[in-house]
Amino acid sequence: MLKIVPSFLSADFSQIKNELDRINEAQPDWLHLDVMDGHFVPNLTFGPPVIDKIRKHTTLPLDVHLMVTNPSDYIDELAKIGVQYISFHQETVFHAHRLIQYIKDKGIHAGIALNPATPVHTLKNIIGDLDFVLLMSVNPGFGGQDFLPLVLPKIVELKVMREKMNPNLLIEVDGGVNDVNAKELIASGTDILVAGSFIFKSENYSEQIRRLRLCSEI
Ligand code: DX5
Ligand code: ZN
Repeated sequence: MLKIVPSFLSADFSQIKNELDRINEAQPDWLHLDVMDGHFVPNLTFGPPVIDKIRKHTTLPLDVHLMVTNPSDYIDELAKIGVQYISFHQETVFHAHRLIQYIKDKGIHAGIALNPATPVHTLKNIIGDLDFVLLMSVNPGFGGQDFLPLVLPKIVELKVMREKMNPNLLIEVDGGVNDVNAKELIASGTDILVAGSFIFKSENYSEQIRRLRLCSEI
């Protein structure tokens, strides 16, 4: 079942509570939270204290995307808050296997995120341990960038790998997603569509989510 996951990065941060009310009402599947540290990516967002407040105003499963140089520093706090999904960038860690096990031991679904330029075959020896893979379809750091079609053959390649090595693996695509590219993303094997500006820069969040859902039916 396709999952539609708004990325809160594109919300109006002067109105966090109001934005959460609107997104709760629109009934997406999960809520995507981009943690950036100004080192791994040239931008800063928010960390566990803000996620803790967000947690108190939504019952949506929280999908935390760590774009930080030291992802292992954040896991204990995020586990305490009660997030359901955590991904970290493969480009940031020496010991991906150890960190995946650490996240899973906390009862959290664990994923690895790949930058556009990082090939999917680098996941070959860890894919069996993953709950999901997040493929970036923009260079991480900012919302509102143009979709990079180079992700499409990566999705297809990952889909072939999961058939052999981990049929339960979910494929998440993040960056520049809209109702034009969603059809091809779904046809290629995407299970989870993350969308920031397509949802939050519109007047009607429910309608935008409905439009993305419709893409799986065409
Ligand atoms: C980019 C973030 C994305 C971003 C997506 O670094 O990881 O989650 O918020 O926003 P859009 O959909 O506007 O590209
Ligand atoms: Zn993200």
